[in-house]
Amino acid sequence: MEDRDGGSGTDMPGLSRRAVLAGAACGLARPASAAPSAGAAPAAGFGPLGRPSWSADSLQAAAAAKGLLYGCEVPFHRFDTSPPYRQAVARECGLLVCGTEMKMEEVLPAPGRTDFARGDAILRFARANGQRMRGHTLVWHAALPPWVGPLLARANAVQAEDFMRRWIETVAGHYRGQIVAWDVVNEIFGNESDPDRGGGLRDSPWLAAIGPGYVDLAFRILRETDPAAAGTWNEDAVEQGAPWMEAKRTKVLRRLSAMRARGVPIKRFGLQSHLTSTVPIDQGQLRRFLAEIGAMGLGIEITEFDIDDRAFPSDVPTRDRMVADFARRYLDVVLAEPATLDIVSWDIYDPDTWLNDHPFRKRPDGLPQRALPLDARFQRKPVWHAMQRAFREAPDHAAARDKLRRA
Ligand code: G3I
Repeated sequence: MEDRDGGSGTDMPGLSRRAVLAGAACGLARPASAAPSAGAAPAAGFGPLGRPSWSADSLQAAAAAKGLLYGCEVPFHRFDTSPPYRQAVARECGLLVCGTEMKMEEVLPAPGRTDFARGDAILRFARANGQRMRGHTLVWHAALPPWVGPLLARANAVQAEDFMRRWIETVAGHYRGQIVAWDVVNEIFGNESDPDRGGGLRDSPWLAAIGPGYVDLAFRILRETDPAAAGTWNEDAVEQGAPWMEAKRTKVLRRLSAMRARGVPIKRFGLQSHLTSTVPIDQGQLRRFLAEIGAMGLGIEITEFDIDDRAFPSDVPTRDRMVADFARRYLDVVLAEPATLDIVSWDIYDPDTWLNDHPFRKRPDGLPQRALPLDARFQRKPVWHAMQRAFREAPDHAAARDKLRRA
């Protein structure tokens, strides 16, 4: 691909290749062990995997009985300041993910500086509690440090690819052997109001700088950097019965099939599952979508599960019951699919849900959302009980799931 200036990839008016690469390399000196030998040792310093911390009546215990993992996103500010929060996460979860602490915005705050401190702290907590860890996220159009957007905008394809490689080698190399699956790419397709680019790809600094090939390349770099981590394409707004979501599901299936045909090392597809009470769940459409993904030999992850209750009444008992019913309607289909491997809530503790701060996800009556399994006193809510029943009553696909995890 010709680079953006139509040049050969070396002449960068106003920004020499050396300057861009210096920028790209800033803090991203290719890690010595970037290309691990087969079976490279896991990254050191995160401690042994400890005894499982979850209780016998936890969501993780119910999930594990069917070969599933249950867990949640852990925001550092709450993790760092609230012992009851840490106790609740330890009690309920077998799988954790950082909401922001492993994103480029936090890991590369400035040229020449990397900061893993918060991600390391959450990973050490997980390992001490016998919990596994997902990685979120390697290549996304958002949560880029302020200095990276301009760098990508001035780089040609060769330089942008080099920057992406150095970034993935830096963060996935740091956590090598500790991450069960990385969200390699996140939200690469547009939504209802986004322009459609190149077979569904949304506008992104990565698409502009590298072209559509950035998606496959990201998976290949992760595979080289940490073969132990499954590569996941994580996507939003593919779960419910809106016509535009059905159209998006069709495009997802087409690209997944093409990626598999190209030999792209993608292992899983992640449905973020930020469900909205304003759109029905069409169980037939969802079941067919999941079955087609499973038929490709891919694992399925529910990666950011929560339910915005803005269309439900203000009354708390009524709202809690409706959220629980909505969750059950969704999970019954998801858990019946043998390819489903894990269910991750986007946090577990109502007061921290991102939904309250979102311009169109928050409730019109201004009341705090009741989107998650635990309330403000860390008590289990009706949706917690609905999730436990869904796990307990789901068919047992443990053997198929264990095989898929090893594939
Ligand atoms: O850590 C700083 C803190 O030091 C500072 O005082 C504070 C105020 O500026 O900002 C804090 O960083 C914020 C961070 O969340 C931690 O709270 C960032 O500004 C803020 O942009 C960041 O928002 C996160 C957002 O992704 C962007 O990374 C949300 O917490 C997180 O829930 C949200 O998660 C996304 C998934 O990654 C992708 N799917 C959608 C989901 C919800 O938007």
